Amino acid sequence: MIEIAAVFGSPRRKGNTATLLRQAIAGARDAGAAVTEIVLRDLKISPCLEIYGCRETGRCAINDDFRQIEPLLARMHGMILASPIFFYTVSAHAKIFMDRCNSSWVKKYWIDRHPFGGQQAYPRKGLFISVGSTRGQRLFDGALLSMRYFMDALDMQLWNSLLFRKIESEGDILQHPDYLASAYAAGAGLVRALAEDPTSA
Ligand SMILES: Cc1cc2nc3c(=O)[nH]c(=O)nc-3n(C[C@H](O)[C@H](O)[C@H](O)COP(=O)(O)O)c2cc1C
Repeated sequence: MIEIAAVFGSPRRKGNTATLLRQAIAGARDAGAAVTEIVLRDLKISPCLEIYGCRETGRCAINDDFRQIEPLLARMHGMILASPIFFYTVSAHAKIFMDRCNSSWVKKYWIDRHPFGGQQAYPRKGLFISVGSTRGQRLFDGALLSMRYFMDALDMQLWNSLLFRKIESEGDILQHPDYLASAYAAGAGLVRALAEDPTSA
């Protein structure tokens, strides 16, 4: 069975990205996947301390709630990460989680000596969901670049992104049933894409 990690990156439990992510989770589950929810604001996760304890084992050396997530990150086939835009990148909750996954980057490129760059067949796929309150053309540029390289560290291709502008107050997203429908469809689509891709597990 295809296994998906769904990461809630907003501090708001009922915020816009959380609402979209719930739709995507419903789509993924209806398409047959097992989805595990990770609510970052409920976990006590230190920022990366850059001590490189991971150089030896490829596992993060900090003993905190990130340890609960590591087995899922190792076995999942795909991830859906939802975060609002905070100052043109992801939320602090999401960024701390992403930085802690640098242990996977260290394992991939330093321990396993996978060549950096170039074309690679990714065994896993990721979906990024984001919203911001403004409408600028470059609103999502920073987050998308971070997301692409974060996902690469986890052997994951940024398969698709759902990005919605002019969404500010809690509940604003409910005024856009088409956005909610596209999140449901993307969740289901991610599972179908994983099932059809021979490079996926
Ligand atoms: C700390 C902070 C920084 C923000 N920075 C931006 C920003 O750079 N650009 C933008 O368009 N909206 C920004 N916003 C607005 C949020 O992206 C917006 O309210 C979004 O709908 C929140 O999503 P959520 O309900 O999932 O938390 C910021 C909000 C906060 C609290």
